This record gives sequence, structure tokens and C-alpha cells, in this order.
Amino acid sequence: MIHFDKNILVTGGAGFIGSHLVRLLVNKYPNYNIVNLDKLTYAGNLDNLKDVEQADNYTFVKADICNEKELESIFDQFKIDNVIHLAAESHVDRSISNPLEFVTTNVIGTVNLLNVAKSKWDLTSDNIFYHVSTDEVYGSLGETGLFTETTSYDPRSPYSASKASSDHFVRAYHETYGLKIKISNCSNNYGSHQFPEKLIPLIINNIVENNPLPIYGKGDNIRDWLHVIDHAEAIDLIFHEGKIGETFNIGGHNEKQNIELVHLLIKLVDQKLGREEGASLGLITYVKDRAGHDQRYAIDAEKLQNILGWTPKYTVEKGIEETVNWFLSNKDWIDNIISGDYLNYYKGQYAKR
Ligand code: NAD
Ligand code: DAU
Repeated sequence: MIHFDKNILVTGGAGFIGSHLVRLLVNKYPNYNIVNLDKLTYAGNLDNLKDVEQADNYTFVKADICNEKELESIFDQFKIDNVIHLAAESHVDRSISNPLEFVTTNVIGTVNLLNVAKSKWDLTSDNIFYHVSTDEVYGSLGETGLFTETTSYDPRSPYSASKASSDHFVRAYHETYGLKIKISNCSNNYGSHQFPEKLIPLIINNIVENNPLPIYGKGDNIRDWLHVIDHAEAIDLIFHEGKIGETFNIGGHNEKQNIELVHLLIKLVDQKLGREEGASLGLITYVKDRAGHDQRYAIDAEKLQNILGWTPKYTVEKGIEETVNWFLSNKDWIDNIISGDYLNYYKGQYAKR
């Protein structure tokens, strides 16, 4: 049996961010065993990891973080000594229609995983439990200001309430039991392999298909966009060098109004499909706003920059163009997803908006 320096359990590794992180870790650290645990919900897709599935330091296990017995036997079998926890229900709109599923996975699943780590590990060891979280726990900003690590929690959607709760549990296990934890709260990610329920892939695909581009409310909500590879690199850095018990905000200072971003996507996709400039502008359709829609998110990532020297590599212009190119050249990936379940979701979400 090969000896590895670390046996890292990455949960949610078949999802959007998880698959980018798993690829980075498997390629960068041949001395680590990367165990990807994922339930393969609608959002999990092993096609995202075809290029690493044969690697000697990679194993996929289909399991549910809510199942304690499954987790215990995975910890034993792989001698898990570190966890990077990403598994979650991640889509705000779905949390509005089905909050309980978010409580189950994001809160109970996280506590379950904490319990198993606590019971299986020697808590004086260096083993780390790293929770990947979101800037949405801080609530909604007005026209000015940025979220810092000391901003009070003020979650406003069932999704962000569940992530805030799981953050609190992770910190509570540090304070109460001495589990060595780290947390990062990141802004909106974009990049290849993102599930098409999220704004950027949804808009790209609808432009290609000449379908309406649904803009919630006035389209003036602001999100702070970060390329998924910049996020994965920040997690790698914090996992290795961040101080135990600390929180780091991750963001790229790329604030854009939704409508501004949609205009950029129209420009790029039309150009690349050889359509006339502005041909798809008529697809823009203002629809009923998301309930409790947060107005603005914006991250202050100075702590991560000053203490660990992290800076994002992608400008939003370069990152968005690469993302558009990826979706246009991987039509099969998206067509495989846009099948029965997704079509039902889409109809329920948009038909009467
Ligand atoms: P995603 O929805 O693409 O992937 C989630 C993954 O978790 C899927 O592979 C799914 O199968 C798996 N999963 C769900 N329930 C599970 C369960 N009970 N047991 C095991 N696996 C389960 O999500 P994402 O966008 O990649 O986000 C990953 C993490 O990062 C989440 O915790 C999310 O809150 C956080 N985050 C996301 C963003 C973003 O912009 N997408 C930003 C900041 C933080
Ligand atoms: O901020 C980090 C969060 O970013 C993550 O924690 C979440 O997991 C992730 O889903 C994302 O949440 P958002 O709600 O910001 O992302 P979404 O892509 O759903 O929406 C982005 C913006 O676009 C938001 O203001 C709502 C708007 N929107 C979204 C969709 C799906 C539309 O106007 N129309 C749409 O059809």
C-alpha cells in the first residue's frame, strides 16, 4: 500500500467548485491521497473529473454526509486525517422552494461530519477540518461598504441561514472540543463546469438557444465575481498556511450589476457565434424578483492578501471570456444536464415569473 503524507477527504468534490479543487490537489500533491466523497445529487457530476479519475492518489466514494455510519467507515478505510468540506445544497432559488433540504444537508450533514471527525481524530494532532462557506452569511450591502471577517452575520435566505448555521457549528466545535478548524467565506464564483441553474451558465446557454434571458427585478443587484480557480488556489493556501481557528474572506474586487454582466455575456457570445453585434439584446426579459433578493455583495479580501499573500490571477474580462469559450466548446456537457430533472426545475422556476 502506498504511504501518503495526508489523507484528505474532500466533500462535494463532484460539484462545481469541488471538482476544480480536487483537480488542483490531485495534480499538485502526488504525496496526498485525495478522497472525494459526494452524494451525486443533481449538482454532482463525475464527468467533471474525467481527467483525474485514474490518478493513483485519487478515489471517489459515493456517500451522503448525513449518513454517520457511511462516514465512519470511510474515515477508517482511508485513514482520513484532514477534511475540506464543500458538500452542500448551493442554490438560493432552490432554498426558497425547499428550505428543509438545505437544513438537512448544510446543517445536519455538517454537524454529522464534525461529529465523525471529532470521534475519529486525536484532537491534539494537526488534523484540520476546513469549512468552505459563502459571503452570503453577512447579508446584503447598500451602495457602499465591504464585508470583512468581523462583519456580523445577517443571513437572509434559507440557503445563507443554513450556511451561517454550519459556520457557527464549525466554530463551536473548535471552541468546545478543540477541533482544529478553518473557515473561508467566498464571493460568487464563475468558470467551467458550473451547473446551468446559476446566472452565468444559464445566460450563456439561453443566448445560444435563443431563449429568454430572465433578469430578476431591475437587474441592478450587484455580485462580486471570482474565477473558480482563484477560489481553489485560495483554499489550498489557507488549508496549508492559515492559522487554526481563523476565518478568511475570499473575493476579487470584481463588482458587477447583473444587467451589466448579462450585456457582457451577450456581446461575447454573439461575437463568437458570428451573430450581428447586439443580436441577442432582445432576449433580455425582466421577470419577478427573487424573494428577499440581497442587493449587493462585496468582499474585502485584504486579510488574505496581507497575511498569506494571495491575489487572484484572473481579471473578470479574461475569466468570463474563457468561461464563454468553455461553454461554447462543451455543448455536450450542458446538453447532458439539461434533461428531465433540470427541465422540470426550469419550468417550475421560470414559467410563471
Ligand atoms: P454545487 O451545488 O455545484 O456542488 C455541491 C456538491 O455537493 C455536489 O457535487 C453534490 O452532489 C454534493 N452534495 C450535496 N449534498 C450532499 C450530501 N448530502 N452528501 C454528499 N454530497 C452532497 O456547489 P458549488 O457551487 O460547487 O459550491 C460548493 C461549496 O462552496 C458549497 O458549500 C457552497 O456553499 C460554497 N460556495 C459556493 C460559492 C459559489 O459561488 N458557487 C461561493 C462561495 C461558497
Ligand atoms: O455569493 C456567493 C454565492 O453565490 C454562493 O454562496 C451560492 O452558492 C451561489 O449560488 C451564488 O449565489 P447567488 O444567488 O448570488 O447566485 P445566482 O447565480 O443564483 O444569482 C446571481 C445573481 O443573478 C443574483 O442577483 C440573482 C440573479 N439572477 C439569477 C438567476 C438564476 C437573475 O437575475 N436571473 C436568474 O435566472
